[in-house]
Amino acid sequence: VLEGACPFGGNRIGGVETSAPTLSDWYPDRLRVEQLHRNGAAANPLSDDDYSAAFNSIDLAELKADIRHFMTTSVPWWPSDYGNYAPQMIRMAWHSAGTYRIADGRGGAGEAMQRFAPISSWWDNGNTDKSRRLLWPIKKKYGSSLSWADLMILTGNVALEVMGFPTTGFGGGRRDAWEADDATYWGPEYIAMTDVKSYDDMVIRGDRWTGRPGDANYELEQPLAASHQSLIYVNPEGPEANGDPAASAKDIRITFGRMAMNDVETVALIAGGHAFGKSHGAVAADRIGAPPEMAPLEAMGLGWHNPEGSGNAEHTMTNGIEGSWTQNPTQWDNSYLENLFGLEWEQTQSPAGASQWKPVDADAPKTPDAHLDGVEHPLMMMTSDIALKVDPVYREICESFLADFDYFTREFSKAWYKLTHRDMGPKSRYLGPEVAAEDFIWQDPLPAAEHGPLSDADVTRLKQAVLDSGLSVSDLAFTAFSSAVTYRDTDKRGGANGARIALAPQKDWAINARTVPVVAKLREVAEAGGASLADVIVLAGCVAVEQAAAAAGVQVTVPFTPGRVDATQDQTDVSQFEWLAPVVDGFRNYVIDGYTSITGMAPERVFLDKAAQLGLSAPEWVVLTGGLRALGCNHDGSGAGVFTNRVGTLSTDFFDALTSMDYEWHAADDDATSFTLDDRESGRPVFQATRNDLVFGSNAQLRGIAEVYAGDDAQERFVRDFVAVWDKVMMFDRYDVKVG
Ligand code: HEM
Repeated sequence: VLEGACPFGGNRIGGVETSAPTLSDWYPDRLRVEQLHRNGAAANPLSDDDYSAAFNSIDLAELKADIRHFMTTSVPWWPSDYGNYAPQMIRMAWHSAGTYRIADGRGGAGEAMQRFAPISSWWDNGNTDKSRRLLWPIKKKYGSSLSWADLMILTGNVALEVMGFPTTGFGGGRRDAWEADDATYWGPEYIAMTDVKSYDDMVIRGDRWTGRPGDANYELEQPLAASHQSLIYVNPEGPEANGDPAASAKDIRITFGRMAMNDVETVALIAGGHAFGKSHGAVAADRIGAPPEMAPLEAMGLGWHNPEGSGNAEHTMTNGIEGSWTQNPTQWDNSYLENLFGLEWEQTQSPAGASQWKPVDADAPKTPDAHLDGVEHPLMMMTSDIALKVDPVYREICESFLADFDYFTREFSKAWYKLTHRDMGPKSRYLGPEVAAEDFIWQDPLPAAEHGPLSDADVTRLKQAVLDSGLSVSDLAFTAFSSAVTYRDTDKRGGANGARIALAPQKDWAINARTVPVVAKLREVAEAGGASLADVIVLAGCVAVEQAAAAAGVQVTVPFTPGRVDATQDQTDVSQFEWLAPVVDGFRNYVIDGYTSITGMAPERVFLDKAAQLGLSAPEWVVLTGGLRALGCNHDGSGAGVFTNRVGTLSTDFFDALTSMDYEWHAADDDATSFTLDDRESGRPVFQATRNDLVFGSNAQLRGIAEVYAGDDAQERFVRDFVAVWDKVMMFDRYDVKVG
């Protein structure tokens, strides 16, 4: 053994001791295809479980009684403020749900991502690790029948209820993730989390914002919905901790808007949430230890060690601001708004040095200490609270809430339900006896079925009618695919059910222009055949794929599961659906005009992101794209990537051309967005392509898969795999019939 060397086979055993530099450090532009396989079945110890059945076996009343009992049973390692854990549980639930962003459907409460880095260790999530750990006895009791994601939201609901607030309902059904998510883009800042010790550290570092607060062009980068890395929404001390309430209102409107909340919902949530609990800033921030992801091993997953006194109770230090908004922080009442508007406020500093506000009048009502009997403190507001008073629109809403407490209560209750269920998708995913009966527009509601279930004979008859319509295989496949591909697994929105492709805004998207006449003809088939348009569009796709497979010499029956219904325009929130409009859709070879010159980003990155949003594996992504090219499914009917002279035949020609050395590939424009495949001998251009075609030959991981389908033995495998992924796409949103 060499001196200084590890006797067990190397100084860095297996490379685990240090992981940097990573592949992406060496090759920053590489496409991280492996992201498609995050949180796969191999990471999930419960992958064979039926969570719906397990959750439904729980006695929800008993579970809620357990949570209620927990609220007022303080434990010494983290004593409850005011003898009630409810406020801190509301904050945990709010932060769990509040990461949701409508641009890509990521974030949200759906997978309990608050347990994993980076979210677990964001400054804004200070001490939510304690909230979850306090809940462990309940999680342990119900085991795998109750996901963390469901428990956290249900606990938020029970917390509101024990303080006298009427919640709108609770739907279970959230499946936990089992590993950190390395794929979601949370913003460009590179900050060592140990450096973030206060909101003062949340200065804008030339990153996600254009302009400065107050500039006309002040805007937040898409798809982000927080003003800074490590925050859920905005800095409570104002942008760049500048203490400016008007500027804070701007940030609040932008960030809450990104979470699909309008002004009324935004005010209801903030004013409602801050009716409860307190902020914690008893200790200087630089005394606080590392966040969970960086804490020492023996901290056992807990972070932010506080060495002062007991480190908790009256010594608690969470975010640095200190105090409570109301006289009775464990009771639902209107005193937050009464205090905000009834008192004059002036800026001051917390013991930890954070900027906050206190009443000008020293005789203003006080709030009790959360732990020490007989001790009282001045009330507190954050700059982000004062924002509600200074912004004219927020102010008007506050005044209407002040004048009518029942109205405020109703609006907060509805907004809380939306906040906590927004990323769950169709209502058919909600489990349990407390699901609200009412349909909400943000749920993208579907009507009850107008038609009885289609029999096998009906299906045969309708298939014949589709064939008789004279529509081409390409048009049928393109339309069926277009109706389904709006789906996002990130928030379970979109998909073929509802036939919203026939409604605004989808029918008006440039990418869907080709579907309009096809949908019109299929509507005739549906009406004549007593079927929903949504079902007929999907069935027409099955017909197309079967025809195309037969043309390639492979007989298949494409699975078809009827039961889709047709939504109405009234059931479709146009502005909320507009977020689903693609900017890049490599499946249909679509890139919005000017995309590359405006963003400077390679479109295949967005294509990968779309594959990730759909929940496709890399092989599924490859086989699906190859099949769509063979079927001639470009949005504009162009020949890009259609490397075949037998369009409409489910051949492996796409992969043959991609992997063949008979061609040379040349960029056809300065931006390298389009290409020609030139015959290597004659130099003559044979095919044209986009980046979203050639990426399957240039990227090593995708090429490896393309080679499988280019193999001389691959035709049957290709058809079989394509049909499987086609069915997966058509069934993405069928939570009404899926088990699991
Ligand atoms: C506490 C900021 C919106 C519910 C806090 C704290 C901060 C904060 C800094 C103190 C954390 C601590 O030190 O313990 C903000 C900002 C918001 C916002 C900047 C948006 C502009 C909301 C919303 C809700 C909510 C929408 C819920 C609907 C709560 C609750 C507490 C709290 C219940 C008290 C926690 C406890 O007593 O332990 N908030 N918040 N907040 N927030 Fe918010």
